[in-house]
Amino acid sequence: RVAGPSGVVVFGVTGDLSRKKVLPAVYDLANRGLLPPGFSLVGFARREWTDEEFAAMVRESVQRHARTPLREAVWQQLARGFRFVQGAFDDDEAFERLAATLGELDRLRAVGGNFAFYLAVPPKSFPQVVQQLRKHGLADTRGGGWRRAVIEKPFGHDLGSARELNRLVRDVFRDDEIFRIDHYLGKETVQNIMAVRFSNVLFEPVWNRSYVDQVQITMAEDIGVGGRAGYYDGVGAARDVLQNHLLQLLALTAMEEPASFGADALEAEKLKVLQAVSLPRDLAAHTVLGQYDRGWQGGRPVPGYREEPGVDPGSRTDTYAAVRLEISNRRWAGVPFYLRTGKRLARRVTEIATVFQPAPYLPFAPTATRSLGQNALIMRVQPDEGVTVRFGSKVPGSAMQIRDVTMDFSYGQSFTESSPEAYERLLLDVLRGDPPLFPREREVESSWAILDPIEDHWQRRAAPAPYPAGGWGPREADEMLARDGRSWRQP
Ligand code: BG6
Repeated sequence: RVAGPSGVVVFGVTGDLSRKKVLPAVYDLANRGLLPPGFSLVGFARREWTDEEFAAMVRESVQRHARTPLREAVWQQLARGFRFVQGAFDDDEAFERLAATLGELDRLRAVGGNFAFYLAVPPKSFPQVVQQLRKHGLADTRGGGWRRAVIEKPFGHDLGSARELNRLVRDVFRDDEIFRIDHYLGKETVQNIMAVRFSNVLFEPVWNRSYVDQVQITMAEDIGVGGRAGYYDGVGAARDVLQNHLLQLLALTAMEEPASFGADALEAEKLKVLQAVSLPRDLAAHTVLGQYDRGWQGGRPVPGYREEPGVDPGSRTDTYAAVRLEISNRRWAGVPFYLRTGKRLARRVTEIATVFQPAPYLPFAPTATRSLGQNALIMRVQPDEGVTVRFGSKVPGSAMQIRDVTMDFSYGQSFTESSPEAYERLLLDVLRGDPPLFPREREVESSWAILDPIEDHWQRRAAPAPYPAGGWGPREADEMLARDGRSWRQP
């Protein structure tokens, strides 16, 4: 799976995302021997840096965040292809220097004119960068090679702005040259949803409304907003992760078997699910927004969201969101899909729990099954990656007592192979031109179409419900499930 001759230009290279994810992923790929010998990396930013200062910054972020340890030989080889172009996004001369730099790399390092432009920039800079790429002929492939645009979320703020953004990028790049990153799709355990569902006979026959009682998709984080208030405040949990990561998990969990795992076939099945999602009739009863307040985490006090540096003290931004969705098709009609996400929750965990209906009849004394719950299949996305099946079993002893037990698969115990980081896989796919793990325009727009009415509703309501940091979110979210006679799983 080695990438062919190529290079990457990173806009916003001094930002958080680039330092923590993109640059370390480049090194990890190099370390695994997956980059071509002439691989080139160009950083573009406003700082007055030399190539050497740029290389020092990359080195530091690799040392801090890469998955694999820094090996001097690999580093030296990789760093020979580093260049830095200083400039602002409205600076025409800087883009001319960038064009000259790409030309030079082509000649010196046999990159073949193949460059990916990675836009790790704030949404407001997006149109400008894309237009500059066109203006300076950087998206032009007539000289040979390929050009690709890598776009980080948020893909817009709502359906209208997402359409506008898509139109803008499509003006400059062809559909197959655009790679939208939803890093959840690059996670090993997320791809395993498809493997578990479609390579076995055990689960698929019961994967429908006749057997499934409910599905709970949880993405809980223990961290707060950290240094990202500038991006996060005014965006909030629903737009930040529910619109993309959570709805992608829902689509993979609920979709039909695709005709292949190619991009078109996958998109077709995911789209069918997203377009069949129906919102609760009563948005007030079946959606909850929350915002964390002061609390305790890991034995120390932590500030409330509004006290975080950079956050507007009167902010109404949600740091927690929960919704009840349904999917209006033959397989899922009537089955609730509960989605929740939040920052500063009790622990970091992402999982998809498919909870099955109780057995239609229990031929035991009522006391025997007092501790028996409902069967469940839990896909543990992170951090304790694996799959758990929960079912009833007899408690050893002379009496018939039945209790829930679990059968656990965990990556660490079953495999010696290690999982690549999501960004590693996705970056490699960009360089190889492999599109299946990147959401396409219509998926992004369909996801906004789901969220828009919910956001509109919340706009007109009071501020999000406060919840103490370190807990499991606002009381209202528990009440939402209680009204359905259910409760959230404690992961
Ligand atoms: C990002 C969000 O997409 O995902 C962040 O913008 C969030 O707010 C992050 O913290 C979580 O990613 P992961 O891979 O750590 O679950």
